Amino acid sequence: MKILMVCLGNICRSPLAEGIMQHLADKEGLDWEIDSAGTGNWHVGSPPDRRSIRAAADEGVDISRQVCRLFRVSDFDEFDLILVMDKSNLNDILAKARNNQDRNKVKMLLGDKIVPDPYYDDMQFAPAFKLIEAGCKEIIREYKSK
Ligand code: 4NP
Repeated sequence: MKILMVCLGNICRSPLAEGIMQHLADKEGLDWEIDSAGTGNWHVGSPPDRRSIRAAADEGVDISRQVCRLFRVSDFDEFDLILVMDKSNLNDILAKARNNQDRNKVKMLLGDKIVPDPYYDDMQFAPAFKLIEAGCKEIIREYKSK
């Protein structure tokens, strides 16, 4: 299974989601490949935000070697599941979908709840980690036998 995590900047939430999901899937012995991308291009080529790197390291997950990239339409072909963090990510990605097969791959990580953007509040990175971790565990429960 190949999963793409998507947020706006690809420096705060989706790098956490990539790192956490890969970590959990590896621990479960699942042959899953996780990647992440952003809908905005400001930080392309950069590592994750240092606050995300730290929040992940505090929980034993290393995301420091990730590199920010933009979402591309060919991601619909490459990935089985595209998990977004909030409703504006959802709208942005659905606007790029070419057909129902593309649309059916796109879901919010937390179902009907969002992962709030922590970018403007240093205190929100640890809570973002916990929310994303809970979402990843739920996805693993749902998809591990598929
Ligand atoms: P992210 O957070 O979508 O979780 O990576 C953001 C990071 C940067 C910006 C916005 C959101 N920005 O506007 O630069």
